[in-house]
Amino acid sequence: MKSKETTSESELKITLKCFFGFEQTLGEELIELGYDKIEFLNRAVRINGSWEDVYFLNLYIRCAISILVEIEHFFIKSEDDLYKKAAGIYWNEIFSANKTFAIKGAVFSTLFKNTHYPFLVLKDAIVDCFREIQNERPNIDLKKPQVLFDLYIKENEVTISVNTSGLPLFQRGYREEVGEAPLNEVVAASLIRQSGWDRTTTFMDPFCGSGTILIEAAFLATGIPSNIERQHYAFKNLNNYDEKLWNEIYGSAPRIVRSLPCEIIGSDISDEMILKTRRNLRSMSFGRFVKTSVLPFDQVTKTEEKLFILTNPPYGERMETDIPELYDTLGTWMKHSMTNSEAWIISSSEEGLKSIGLKPTKKTKVFNGDLECSFRKFEIYDGSKKAKNEESYSEE
Ligand SMILES: C[S@@+](CC[C@H](N)C(=O)[O-])C[C@H]1O[C@@H](n2cnc3c(N)ncnc32)[C@H](O)[C@@H]1O
Repeated sequence: MKSKETTSESELKITLKCFFGFEQTLGEELIELGYDKIEFLNRAVRINGSWEDVYFLNLYIRCAISILVEIEHFFIKSEDDLYKKAAGIYWNEIFSANKTFAIKGAVFSTLFKNTHYPFLVLKDAIVDCFREIQNERPNIDLKKPQVLFDLYIKENEVTISVNTSGLPLFQRGYREEVGEAPLNEVVAASLIRQSGWDRTTTFMDPFCGSGTILIEAAFLATGIPSNIERQHYAFKNLNNYDEKLWNEIYGSAPRIVRSLPCEIIGSDISDEMILKTRRNLRSMSFGRFVKTSVLPFDQVTKTEEKLFILTNPPYGERMETDIPELYDTLGTWMKHSMTNSEAWIISSSEEGLKSIGLKPTKKTKVFNGDLECSFRKFEIYDGSKKAKNEESYSEE
């Protein structure tokens, strides 16, 4: 049996979940934030830390989807064992009966015939604990729970954690306006970090849509936390919430800048999209320094000798777009108008990417939601346009 008092602060096991393939990227971000002992897991990384670290990371981390703190880790031999062990946790010390809760997670175990069943067992254990001790019980809210638990079972090994973020961290709080195929904010931040952008070379997104890539690039360049606009964090609903500590962390975060350390430029063929980008930029102190214009990408000209392009062109979700033609023109534009630059393109259109006709120097598989995409790097020098389908590249 374990109560929170028995867990020393710095002993908290903190798991940061990320999207497929971004474990190293998240690890690098943690190192930059001062964390060194990092354990790499599948779609997650783990560190040890304190509640102060949990608050700090919920605000500052850009490449994680959620932050879990382990409550209990144990082994079971049968379905019944799960209830017995979970019922031994003092749930009433973790949260109060007037808060709603839900349980999410994953079960990979032959001990359970039905993978939903362990979630019901854990729910019963939580509710029964409250009933026994206080004669009242918290209600379930599957859509917007105030407290969220994570249950992970791998064969006979069970980990129960509290999800301190609650709503996923890509719900940054800044995006009021979305385009038709918006890039997930955490994916955008992870791609920018993975690309190795030096945060000083002029950054450009010529298919900026509602501006996600531009905004995440500006956050990174200025050091302002991407979650500075976010109000919701599930840790605020736990019994041990230290409001003073959170206010100190949040209050000392940088949020105002009087300039950008480099130019950040976006454009889109659609005036409606540029309006959305401007609206999304409105609440940020760097908003007015991000330059945007309504332009087809092939009319965008170079403002500097060297540009850093990171973009998310259409994948073919609109029937009227001729994808091979658009990507062919993109390759030609990069070669003739963007020489001496570096371009990173994320797209799910294999046909489109081939039509670029340039040799990528790096290629990684990533996901935007459920959509499998390729993230490719092009180093553009004079004469680098190859004949179509003559691709050869290094695979990461
Ligand atoms: C996949 S969306 C980009 C979404 C964006 N990353 C976001 O998070 O909102 C592709 C964008 O390309 C724009 N587009 C399509 N054809 C274009 C062209 N020829 N030149 C510039 N932009 C174009 C569309 O208007 C759309 O906003």
